[in-house]
Amino acid sequence: MKQKNYTYLHLNENLDPDEYVICDYSVTTDLPMEEAADSIAAEQSTGTWTEISTLKSGIIEKYGARVTNISGNRITVAFPNDDFSIDVGGVPQILSVIAGNLFGLEALKKVRLEDVRFPKSILEQFPGPKHGADGLKDILKRKDKPLVGTIIKPKIGLSPKEMADYVYESGMGGLTNSKDDETLTNQKFCPIEDRTVAIAEALDKLEQQGIHMVHAINISTGGHRILEAADKVQAAGAKQIMVDIITCGFSAVQALAEDPSVKVPIHVHRTMHGAMTRDKNHGIAMLPIAKMSRMCGGDALHIGTLGVGKMSGDASGDMDNLRACLDEDVPYRKVMPVCSGGVYPGMIGKLVEKSGFTVQIQAGGAVAGHPGGVRKGAMAMSQAVDAAYEKIPADVYAKTHEELKAALEKWGMK
Ligand code: 3PG
Ligand code: 3PG
Ligand code: MG
Repeated sequence: MKQKNYTYLHLNENLDPDEYVICDYSVTTDLPMEEAADSIAAEQSTGTWTEISTLKSGIIEKYGARVTNISGNRITVAFPNDDFSIDVGGVPQILSVIAGNLFGLEALKKVRLEDVRFPKSILEQFPGPKHGADGLKDILKRKDKPLVGTIIKPKIGLSPKEMADYVYESGMGGLTNSKDDETLTNQKFCPIEDRTVAIAEALDKLEQQGIHMVHAINISTGGHRILEAADKVQAAGAKQIMVDIITCGFSAVQALAEDPSVKVPIHVHRTMHGAMTRDKNHGIAMLPIAKMSRMCGGDALHIGTLGVGKMSGDASGDMDNLRACLDEDVPYRKVMPVCSGGVYPGMIGKLVEKSGFTVQIQAGGAVAGHPGGVRKGAMAMSQAVDAAYEKIPADVYAKTHEELKAALEKWGMK
């Protein structure tokens, strides 16, 4: 076979970041890294495995991806803006370019898309959040303290009335948010419209007592039905909707965010992300997913528990996700970062130390599993958040807050 010349290598070239989508990948391969990088850039832009007669002069210069940096096993590839079409194409086409065939290239053992930076001209073609973190705080009239919520447990099996009672008890216990779990949609035991109506009544009852709370109804469904689902639940009184961005697709979130009929905030869940994010050497890191979720218009996004909860995820990666929600270097509202998954009151101090106060902390098991029931579980969570806000250790705060004390006795401190 002929020795490859590295057509796509432009190491240390200074590119105008407004003209390119710039990606960082980590690559595991037995090939020289130059060759691996060149083959990724080729496959994802103008190349193929052999020389071809149709590659007219100028095509590579204009549309070829450029490998601009190789450092250890980390490479940077810049894709010219002209490789993308946002009107017909959007995120699906972006993903085909920056996160497409490359994962399957036989010559590479593993590849992971670690980060992506979009130019302003592409960012401006996406809606970003309609409400975002600040909008959610306004709706909940909770300016400074972290939001504190629950995922109704068991995940499945409760009736609409049981769910509404749970929401009411949570609100009475001081929670600002609740949500359907990711696997609950419209099963027979809990039809979505009946659930939405029952929960809306519970939220109204809370509102009449001066308690502001929202519940995210999971409308995750096929793309052809998602707007209809949003309309239905909004008509039934939903104050927030939830979408699983990986299973439904980024475009589902964008379709909702761009449609003027969708008035309520969109809570973005990320179930299945572990299939892409968990292997530290292969797949797609959560950071690009977080950035694209914000572009598409998610108002709140699960980012992990900053190294303290039950789901795998490392503290520094989760912090990157948090920054992707809150950074001011993109032309969008901030996204409310959501920390969820194995959270309990005794870990909230540590979590808030890392996250700061613009965060939504939520627990399922630690609310429904409190020895005193849901209301006390909600109280314990809310007390733990108050303690963290006032920078008082939870075990000290618990001396005067018996619900928190009971939670710490059951689950301990972290
Ligand atoms: C995640 O962030 O993916 C969670 O651990 C799962 O989210 P949930 O707790 O809201 O279901
Ligand atoms: C999940 O789906 O894992 C949860 O929604 C998180 O719930 P937990 O607080 O009970 O872990
Ligand atoms: Mg869940």
